[in-house]
Amino acid sequence: MTRLVAGVILLLLTVAGIVSAGRDATGDVLRLPSEASRFFHRSDNDEVEGTRWAVLIAGSNGYWNYRHQADVCHAYQLLRKGGLTEENIIVFMYDDIAYNEENPRPGIIINSPHGDDVYKGVPKDYTGEDVTVNNFFAAILGNKTALTGGSGKVVDSGPNDHIFIYYTDHGGAGVLGMPTVPFLYADDLIDVLKKKHALGTYKSLVFYLEACESGSIFEGLLPEGLNIYATTASNAEESSWGTYCPGEHPSPPPEYETCLGDLYSVAWMEDSDIHNLRTETLHQQYELVKRRTINGNSAYGSHVMQYGDVGLSKDNLFAYLGTNPANDNFTFVDENSLHPPTKAVNQRDADLVHFWDKYRKAPDGSVRKVEAQKQFVEAMSHRMHIDHSMKLIGKLLFGIERGPEVLRTVRPAGQPLVDDWKCLKKMVRTFETHCGSLAQYGMKHMRSLANVCNAGIQTEQMDEAAAQACVSIPTGHWSSVQKGFTA
Ligand SMILES: *[C@@H]1O[C@H](CO)[C@@H](O)[C@H](O)[C@H]1NC(C)=O
Ligand SMILES: *[C@@H]1O[C@H](CO)[C@@H](O)[C@H](O)[C@H]1NC(C)=O
Repeated sequence: MTRLVAGVILLLLTVAGIVSAGRDATGDVLRLPSEASRFFHRSDNDEVEGTRWAVLIAGSNGYWNYRHQADVCHAYQLLRKGGLTEENIIVFMYDDIAYNEENPRPGIIINSPHGDDVYKGVPKDYTGEDVTVNNFFAAILGNKTALTGGSGKVVDSGPNDHIFIYYTDHGGAGVLGMPTVPFLYADDLIDVLKKKHALGTYKSLVFYLEACESGSIFEGLLPEGLNIYATTASNAEESSWGTYCPGEHPSPPPEYETCLGDLYSVAWMEDSDIHNLRTETLHQQYELVKRRTINGNSAYGSHVMQYGDVGLSKDNLFAYLGTNPANDNFTFVDENSLHPPTKAVNQRDADLVHFWDKYRKAPDGSVRKVEAQKQFVEAMSHRMHIDHSMKLIGKLLFGIERGPEVLRTVRPAGQPLVDDWKCLKKMVRTFETHCGSLAQYGMKHMRSLANVCNAGIQTEQMDEAAAQACVSIPTGHWSSVQKGFTA
């Protein structure tokens, strides 16, 4: 009875256009005839109070990771067209792609096979060795004194402002890659978001995250009540996918030997590119991106997830991304930006695709062919070394039978990867001390290292096992520990 009354009152309020800013978390979307929805939305959503801020970050470098920086550049262009100003968009990218010797179009970056240049005009706020976890956190928190290097631009936001954060790169359970060390750990990120909330310097914050196992960054960790809504490219235990890759369909122009984008990332951006974002909600976009990223349930797709204050997804995208006036007449309609399933490349294998394509196309006997072969072999031997070492450590710690099983264990949904994050970081360091850097590929073993902690193994035991398992570290680009530890 009370529910019915509440429902009637809600309906009346809605008709009066009063609760359009209300956010109950039921996930129901009121469907009004388009005319009415236009009428109700016009007055309150046309003017979003406060300022829109964005932090865009590509966590990788290297030409084989072209796609992450392409994603970030694309996002920048999208936000500018939406009406955000340069001073309110903070860009983190290594910036080694546009003028990379492998880039067939010098000074140009594209994010889809027929796409325009997305590099032009992108500000160089934090590039090269300034793309660090520390600067990323300082930028979010608006703390200029904590910065080292870079343009000094930070999210200098106030209580009515809307913040959009978009990260794209490799990841593993509980960790996101960076082009520098250390990598970004989930517990530290959540702490920063909590701190930002405590500062009272935003109204709501949306986080879009592309990485392998990206669900693990928020799963069981991001509480409700921070006014933060996050979506991730994959759940906590699966890969995310590169797209527009050589040999796939659609494929990049033939002169490109690298993937141009990532599946979840191009899904949200290609949708945002063409619609009036005043009339499309975060939830509608989530549903669409989810359908595109699962890729027809093929082997080449992942499960898009949402976390935090899911009720916020009733907001229109306009509040965060603005909208391109040229799209005013293109209202979002379900399905209208769904693309047919495509083939895609596992994030973790995209570097191999690059080296292989380079090798395949290089003339026989050329220096280039030899170089590509060397790169391929180095990447492969790093992988085999890391996989083998981890497996062996598992057996040394838990026995030949139980070892693989303990390392593979996945905690039930809703639980964080690990309870003791300090332990996880110590285990990473211990592993890297004896076995060399995990690097981009090795992040896939984060869950195993977390399980070592969850099983109550002490650092000394791990130290002994790792020393026994790794008598030598293969030399080569991927194995270097000279750059420091990833934890
Ligand atoms: C900003 O960063 C500095 C240096 O890390 C730190 O001492 C200070 O407490 C921070 N300020 C705020 C408001 O968090
Ligand atoms: C949208 O449609 C109206 C009416 O047909 C037209 O006047 C207006 O120019 C169009 N806007 C854009 C951006 O195309």
